[in-house]
Amino acid sequence: VAELSLRPRYLSEYIGQTKAKENLKVYIEAAKLRKEALDHVLLYGPPGLGKTTLSNIIANELGVNLRTTSGPAIERPGDLAALLTNLQEGDVLFIDEIHRLSRAVEEVLYPAMEDYALDIMIGKGPSARSVRLDLPRFTLIGATTRAGLLSAPLRDRFGVVSRLEYYSIEELSFIVSRTADLLDMSIAGEAAEEIAMRSRGTPRIANRLLKRVRDFAQVRGDGIITHDIANAALELLQVDPMGLDYIDHKMLRSMMTSFAGRPVGLDTLAATIGEESQTIEDVYEPYLMQIGFLQRTPRGRIATEQAYRHMKLPYPDRNP
Ligand code: ADE
Repeated sequence: VAELSLRPRYLSEYIGQTKAKENLKVYIEAAKLRKEALDHVLLYGPPGLGKTTLSNIIANELGVNLRTTSGPAIERPGDLAALLTNLQEGDVLFIDEIHRLSRAVEEVLYPAMEDYALDIMIGKGPSARSVRLDLPRFTLIGATTRAGLLSAPLRDRFGVVSRLEYYSIEELSFIVSRTADLLDMSIAGEAAEEIAMRSRGTPRIANRLLKRVRDFAQVRGDGIITHDIANAALELLQVDPMGLDYIDHKMLRSMMTSFAGRPVGLDTLAATIGEESQTIEDVYEPYLMQIGFLQRTPRGRIATEQAYRHMKLPYPDRNP
């Protein structure tokens, strides 16, 4: 509950994602004017950037109910049918990790999205027939880490496609200060900015680091989060000045030493450091690429000269 109340409830309270926010504002207002359901929305981008938060805000701004589920949770077509038939006119159905829907479930979703209809088979064998059931008009909000993971027919059925971007330091500082306010914490401006700089452009990480820094400030200090306290706490948390953690370091060091700077494939790298390929691809790589530490080449991943400098390791001479 505390976690939920920290989330902004209106678009006007939502910091960052200016482009997505401004577009959504127009579409929401237009749907309300026409008294129609908002067109289906696909939100994609790295984890922790606010896809769930935005869905909550959209439903709230529309003044409708929000039903939340996820791709893996909808195991059979009947599970989705049950969700759809329980919606009220105009409601929002949020499906997180929508790229993980099974083929059979996706088939049910197509007519639901396109015609607000459910096709159900009655009976088996020669006497089987299909019956079409009307559904309330609803808005599907799908969230995924990468739009490319979606099947083309599913992707094509979203009228609004919004890519969420990493947040700037300034935006994250605002978010950290806002959260500190809501939690009745006293935090110095430099401390909020320090946390922002080490949060990999991600509000979820910023708010998590803030809570850990607060613990530290309460136990080791007088509860006030100064710049010194923030720095000391972040060091203990093994979050470096660029926001890279233990796993980023393991990954980069492995590329630089075990593979001596040669291009390395995703699965090889994952096996070497003992992480899931999917996690590396969705969580670690996008940020390392964003800050220019990692490049994808046709032959595999390589660390850039900037990354070597950060890791304080010698950049290999590629033309010996
Ligand atoms: N908390 C987490 N993400 C936020 C955002 N984008 N705006 C305001 N508060 C937030």
